[in-house]
Amino acid sequence: MLHPQSTEIYFKLNNGVNVPALGLGTASPSDRLPETKEAVKAAIKANYRHIDTAWCYGSEPYIGEALKELFEEGVITRSDIFITTKVWPVNWDRASQSIDESLKWLGVDYVDMVLQHWPLCYAKVEDKVNGISGLARNPVDAAGKPIYDPSGDWLQTYKDIEKIYLDPSDHRVRSIGVSNFPIEYLERTLKECTVKPVVNQVEMHPRLPQLELNKFCHEHDILLTAYSPLGSNGAPNIKIPLVQELSKKHNVSANDILISYHLRKGNIVIPRSLNPVRLANNVDFAFLSEEELAALDKIGTTDPYRYIDEDFAAVVPGFTGRDKVIG
Ligand SMILES: NC(=O)c1ccc[n+]([C@@H]2O[C@H](COP(=O)([O-])OP(=O)(O)OC[C@H]3O[C@@H](n4cnc5c(N)ncnc54)[C@H](OP(=O)(O)O)[C@@H]3O)[C@@H](O)[C@H]2O)c1
Repeated sequence: MLHPQSTEIYFKLNNGVNVPALGLGTASPSDRLPETKEAVKAAIKANYRHIDTAWCYGSEPYIGEALKELFEEGVITRSDIFITTKVWPVNWDRASQSIDESLKWLGVDYVDMVLQHWPLCYAKVEDKVNGISGLARNPVDAAGKPIYDPSGDWLQTYKDIEKIYLDPSDHRVRSIGVSNFPIEYLERTLKECTVKPVVNQVEMHPRLPQLELNKFCHEHDILLTAYSPLGSNGAPNIKIPLVQELSKKHNVSANDILISYHLRKGNIVIPRSLNPVRLANNVDFAFLSEEELAALDKIGTTDPYRYIDEDFAAVVPGFTGRDKVIG
């Protein structure tokens, strides 16, 4: 085989659990969500063994349908696959119910990793038409501004997830972590909680290399998981000239370069695709040199760009609330 396969790379989390370093992202636009079922089946057949989802994505029921068929067909068993889900900020004080809902939609009795999705507390606003479990996903006031719960403390969610993880009679969760946490938020988490997060899932790619956060996390034995590695919808990062150049040099796709960039740094990466051909062509690992990694980092240190920067995130340090995109 010319290239090692990215699907063969596993990392050890700080609690001793092994995680497949390449996962499938599933935050697809709502009109394409039903295609998730076939994408998951194609990904498993291409040897992906890690699925990233969340309570708020709407993809969990389709992942559940795919897993049911894959289990029935004997393609994989439950223990062959690593499933990550997340607790969305409307559930900041109902982590246990959120996990139960995710388990029900996924059709499994445990998940391998639960993440606090964002360090913020949304208000609960009833929405029986477009909401999830009757709650507005992104509650906004008449002026379109996000509505937070003023009684909420963003660390409460992680503390509640931690209690579930530590309860010896509760087997719903194998590892716990966070997402979209800046360094100062991780510092507070490490000070006030007993269980260190196993990962911090953040946007990361050559245009946003997150070098300081990467250093902090690795010094504290927390892995980073890179979301939006391709630049999200339309995969704009594949057009970066250096990515194109490295793709030719290493004889792999541009997607492979953007994926290998994280794997070479010891971080998990979760690209999304609903296209079975692309999924199968995303798994060649390029052994990028230190100089090539540094040159890719330089793109974002010189001219950083955050694709996922929604209004509601502006209360978290580092976010500006610039765009309205999926997350
Ligand atoms: N924790 C968080 O707050 C958070 C936020 C954002 C995302 N995430 C997670 O991270 C995952 C990945 O991030 P993402 O979904 O934002 O985006 P991404 O993986 O960076 O990019 C996905 C997009 O790239 C397209 N694409 C892939 N290969 C392509 C190619 N060769 N040419 C053209 N287009 C191509 C895909 O379309 P096709 O389907 O047509 O291939 C899809 O539209 C999410 O799905 C989700 O699981 C987490």
